[in-house]
Amino acid sequence: MIFLGAIVLTVCAFISRVDCAAAGDWCYHLPTCNDTTWPKTFAKYCDGSRQSPININTQAAKKDSNLTEFTFIKFNSATALKTFENTGKTVKVLLESGIQISGGGLSEVYDSLQFHLHWGNGSSIPGSEHTVDGKRYPMEMHIVNAKSSYNGNTTQAVGDSTGLAALGFFIEEMSGSETGKPESWKKLTKYLANITTKGQTFTIPSGISLDDLLVGVNRSIYYRYLGSLTTPACNEAVVWTVFKEPIKVSKDLIDLFSTTVHINDTSSPFMTDVFRNIQPDLTVTKSSASTTCYSLGLMVLSLALWKNY
Ligand SMILES: *[C@@H]1O[C@H](CO)[C@@H](O)[C@H](O)[C@H]1NC(C)=O
Ligand SMILES: *[C@@H]1O[C@H](CO)[C@@H](O)[C@H](O)[C@H]1NC(C)=O
Ligand SMILES: *[C@@H]1O[C@H](CO)[C@@H](O)[C@H](O)[C@H]1NC(C)=O
Ligand SMILES: *[C@@H]1O[C@H](CO)[C@@H](O)[C@H](O)[C@H]1NC(C)=O
Ligand SMILES: *[C@@H]1O[C@H](CO)[C@@H](O)[C@H](O)[C@H]1NC(C)=O
Ligand SMILES: *[C@@H]1O[C@H](CO)[C@@H](O)[C@H](O)[C@H]1NC(C)=O
Ligand SMILES: *[C@@H]1O[C@H](CO)[C@@H](O)[C@H](O)[C@H]1NC(C)=O
Ligand SMILES: [Zn+2]
Repeated sequence: MIFLGAIVLTVCAFISRVDCAAAGDWCYHLPTCNDTTWPKTFAKYCDGSRQSPININTQAAKKDSNLTEFTFIKFNSATALKTFENTGKTVKVLLESGIQISGGGLSEVYDSLQFHLHWGNGSSIPGSEHTVDGKRYPMEMHIVNAKSSYNGNTTQAVGDSTGLAALGFFIEEMSGSETGKPESWKKLTKYLANITTKGQTFTIPSGISLDDLLVGVNRSIYYRYLGSLTTPACNEAVVWTVFKEPIKVSKDLIDLFSTTVHINDTSSPFMTDVFRNIQPDLTVTKSSASTTCYSLGLMVLSLALWKNY
């Protein structure tokens, strides 16, 4: 390992500093450390057999009666969002303690720890991690939750095949030419200006709840599968819930993500295309509230058969 590190550092000395990742680091934007290299550099899990994200094939997803309603505890708290951080790979919000989820086919109560986002390059170059029938959305929000029984010890949670529960919400561009909508996202994105460089943190003033950010999404309709973290070390410890309906955010606010925060200092590139590519298909089920959609053709056929009866 020390030998390998020395080689990487030597090679780096010849490349511009800003564009060179430290040994053992990972990235989205360079051929030397982007997601195509993770199965080699983080071989323990990133080349596993239940990797995320995936494409969700809605026709293949069977309804599971165990996938009932969730209970969202303190998602209405106006003080839910504590700090906003630029990690150099994403922007992450730490949540206050006491926010939890249960139900939704989960085996126990999970504590909501943080949320972060994935995006492409503005609203026109989509950057969600999951795709649905091949469609990639502009952005995706991940709320990360860990089994309450681990008391916030994520080392223990990632060692359990269902230790984490991630909630994925797609973000889609609002139709029309409105700007600064919805209000909750206007408030949150305003604080991007306070975390423009890697490692910067900002204490978020009260006034934004998780319910405010998840506006307009019917949280009874979702897809479920067992997968992994989408960043190294890609631990296969995640019960994934991906909600069908997207959060609608105006274009100007979506564009702020790829034009405000940098991957390192202000002379480094803007954070763009921060998502992992699609991994091999996994079995996906859907909640009981999801509607079964018959094609018009099938309906006409069944009506015809009925008539002949
Ligand atoms: C990131 O920025 C810091 C501060 O300017 C600098 O010391 C460091 O070398 C940069 N890192 C990379 C990988 O460019
Ligand atoms: C990722 O790296 C591979 C080679 O390791 C390269 O072929 C590909 O173009 C890179 N993709 C991006 C987005 O940099
Ligand atoms: C639903 O839950 C029951 C009881 O926990 C379990 O036996 C069954 O296998 C589950 N069904 C599916 C499809 O996961
Ligand atoms: C992102 O989009 C902007 C504006 O369209 C463009 O100038 C920039 O080169 C793009 N960045 C990447 C990494 O593709
Ligand atoms: C988390 O659990 C691991 C394994 O049981 C333990 O070694 C570690 O000290 C714990 N971390 C914290 C912060 O309590
Ligand atoms: C946040 O950033 C804005 C815009 O740069 C600035 O006016 C404001 O003072 C900053 N707030 C804090 C608390 O740093
Ligand atoms: C969510 O969707 C379900 C199933 O279609 C429906 O019964 C329910 O009324 C919807 N809830 C809301 C708040 O729209
Ligand atoms: Zn994520």
